Amino acid sequence: MSNSLEEGLEKAAIRGAARHVFVCIGPDCCRSRDGEALWEYMKRRVKDTRARVMRTKAACFRICTGGPWIVIYPEGTWYGGVTPARFERILQEHILRGEPVREWVAAKNDLNGRPPEGV
Ligand code: FES
Repeated sequence: MSNSLEEGLEKAAIRGAARHVFVCIGPDCCRSRDGEALWEYMKRRVKDTRARVMRTKAACFRICTGGPWIVIYPEGTWYGGVTPARFERILQEHILRGEPVREWVAAKNDLNGRPPEGV
């Protein structure tokens, strides 16, 4: 059964979102089971914390090593090697408080047309 448009927009959390997290769960940047474990953890913790964030499986980012990868917009902050434990810190500090975990930031580009900041 398909959702109505309103149900779909509500389920995707589009209207209330402050950030959008895309995740690659492998299989080339990491083992698929590690990627799936991260995805399941993300889903649960985003729901638990009522974080104002959309989450999307984005398949391959073409990095294909050092994953699982996530990128958080609007900042365009990239994190690799994201385990559930690492995601918990990223959730608490970056997603909920707006403070990126600087030592884990692999790249940054908010796609605003200006040169990316140094990491
Ligand atoms: S499989 Fe994850 S970046 Fe390519």
